Amino acid sequence: MKIINVVGTRPNFIKIAPVMEQMLESDGIDPLLLHTGQHYDANMNQVFFDQLGIPRPDIDLGVGSGSLASQVAEIIKRFDLALEKEKPAAVLVVGDVNSTVACALAASYRRIPVIHVEAGLRSFDMDMPEEINRLLTDRLADLLFTTEPCAGVNLKREGVDPDKIHFVGNVMVDTLLKHRRVANETSGALDRFGLEKRNYAVMTLHRPSNVDHEEVLTPIMRAVAEISQKIKIVFAVHPRTEKMMRKFGLDNLSDSIILTGPQPYLDMLQLMDHAKMVLTDSGGMQEETSVLGVPCLTIRKNTERPVTVEEGSNTLVGTDRDTIARAADEILCGGGKDGRCPELWDGHAAQRIVNVIREWGPSLINLGGR
Ligand code: UD1
Repeated sequence: MKIINVVGTRPNFIKIAPVMEQMLESDGIDPLLLHTGQHYDANMNQVFFDQLGIPRPDIDLGVGSGSLASQVAEIIKRFDLALEKEKPAAVLVVGDVNSTVACALAASYRRIPVIHVEAGLRSFDMDMPEEINRLLTDRLADLLFTTEPCAGVNLKREGVDPDKIHFVGNVMVDTLLKHRRVANETSGALDRFGLEKRNYAVMTLHRPSNVDHEEVLTPIMRAVAEISQKIKIVFAVHPRTEKMMRKFGLDNLSDSIILTGPQPYLDMLQLMDHAKMVLTDSGGMQEETSVLGVPCLTIRKNTERPVTVEEGSNTLVGTDRDTIARAADEILCGGGKDGRCPELWDGHAAQRIVNVIREWGPSLINLGGR
């Protein structure tokens, strides 16, 4: 059974690594890896392949950047040609980025079954392109793998056949648990930034809704500058955010904010593992900090990953300056939430996924003639 596994962006690489590994070990599955080229900078792309031992992509579409719609359109066009040539039995997509929805759509037009890993998450916020991507991908998918019980509830409410939904856990956590020890043994990130364990914070921020508007980014950065008077902050800045911070004159607010570029996987893992707290708007880091038991302040009004708030170490703080600063103070004074690791986030999600795909193999292929 030939399956094309699709990746495009940094979080996709982390999710696909254990899936590819399990498929390569499994009889009866012939996995191909396809990179859309959505992320292309070495430190957001190649370094993840190297550190996570992901095989070189069999196919690279090389789309690069563009507006949301033009990027999706370009991926659909180029992926369609790859589908025509390869004629896979199924296409597997992960997460909620443009590459995910574009490839799900192209495969659906050719009646090729779509498998979605990390299905059913909903922020109920259509201002996020990811929410649009999630809804469309799940509507098209033939097999849906979920990370938390709430995702299954969302899908059933939307009318998805319960037989297609499988709660398997979290592939991002498979990767984290596999690399945690090696990250601590080999990453020199703490030394490089001159950090003491539990005496610094780590930050990332890249959502367009947070970084593209001066009136939103300014209070966030003022809160961060205030927090940095009490604890050093390592801020790994996404290219989009770097551009906007410079444009709004927010790139030089405090000497205690260490501004650095996107970090390689193992460095980021070591940094998160020993931090006093994490400040972020990333979906993946909300999950990773819940597994590590490190308090996370999510700079958003909502999350599509409620289990990280209900059971894990995550707190939603929105974008208001005082609320962010107060929540950080609570962690600095009281230690913050450590939570517990959500159900099935145990390092075996990819194995469960591949077992289900093997069972479903024959019926998936029949779906090709729907
Ligand atoms: C994308 C995903 C987002 C995910 C994030 C992880 C969508 C809609 N968004 O957002 O869900 O959380 O990846 O990082 O798919 N750029 C570079 N180098 C690169 C890639 C991008 O400089 O290697 C710059 C370009 O100027 C580009 C901008 O970053 O315009 C945004 O990149 P894009 O892939 O459009 O979305 P992200 O913001 O990275």
